[in-house]
Amino acid sequence: MGNFIFLNGEVVPHDEGKVSVYDHGFLYGDGVFEGIRTYNGRIFKLDEHLERLYFSAKALMIEIGMSRDELRAAILDLSRRNGVKDGYNRITVSRGVSLGLDPRNINGPATVVVMNDALSLYPRSMYENGLDVMTVSTRIPLPQTVEPRIKSLGKYVANIQAKIEANRVNAGEGLMLNTQGYVAECTGDNIFIVRRGEIITPPSWAGILLGITRNTVIELAREQGLTVREDIFTLFDVYTADECFLTGTAAEVIPVRTVDGRVIGEGHPGPVTRSLMEAFRELTATSGVPIYGENATAATGVG
Ligand SMILES: Cc1ncc(COP(=O)(O)O)c(C=O)c1O
Repeated sequence: MGNFIFLNGEVVPHDEGKVSVYDHGFLYGDGVFEGIRTYNGRIFKLDEHLERLYFSAKALMIEIGMSRDELRAAILDLSRRNGVKDGYNRITVSRGVSLGLDPRNINGPATVVVMNDALSLYPRSMYENGLDVMTVSTRIPLPQTVEPRIKSLGKYVANIQAKIEANRVNAGEGLMLNTQGYVAECTGDNIFIVRRGEIITPPSWAGILLGITRNTVIELAREQGLTVREDIFTLFDVYTADECFLTGTAAEVIPVRTVDGRVIGEGHPGPVTRSLMEAFRELTATSGVPIYGENATAATGVG
């Protein structure tokens, strides 16, 4: 945990950072957020995460009250103050403070919080052997009701319910289907399968969050000359896939060993998964927005 947090324009000791009990994020889950990794003093895909945050806020008509460049600078400044080298940045924005769900009652600014924290990853053995995944009964909410591309606070109540189901059977992750029964995503990760040399992942309209790690892995796969297709598929396709892996900011790229007790492929990470895990590790070690050094405060041009 960092010593300091950023709260509504100020940097304060983390235990002095207080948010009102009237905050719409607390009362209604009315807000948006991002989780972003720092590797070796560089913030990975910072601008992509900021874009998703600002798009999520725009779609929900939440006025963040800071430009993207200002928030970007605040994130970098906080990381410097906390001396972050590796870790997890959590950015949370809520609509503001007021009782009653009507947004017109909110007179003040949005609540904006940035925190630096450590990350508890899956144990190393799971990256070597693969995760055991179970399908949960909690379905992805209908996109007509909860747009999956908006990374909103409130949406996560379904994912937490799904995680509880997965925990009860000691699964490494819970796989969520959409209401039509097609495979969508896991509680905190996107899913990929590999069949006959082709990589397939569900499209956004299947009800998924468009993961930044998902996009990165698609790019890396195409750079390696692999074919990637966005398509809907069912549990049958997962059970009979040659390989399966998950992607997410916290999990990175992690192989799947079994799904609902069916061994995937050979039961250990396959060649496509291993090569993408390797390429992803290399990218995180060498790219990202530097927190320290000469280039650290350079203008970004992102408005
Ligand atoms: C529901 C869900 N799907 C997918 C992801 C993966 O997205 P990203 O790679 O941007 O972390 C996350 C994590 O943020 C998530 O919560």
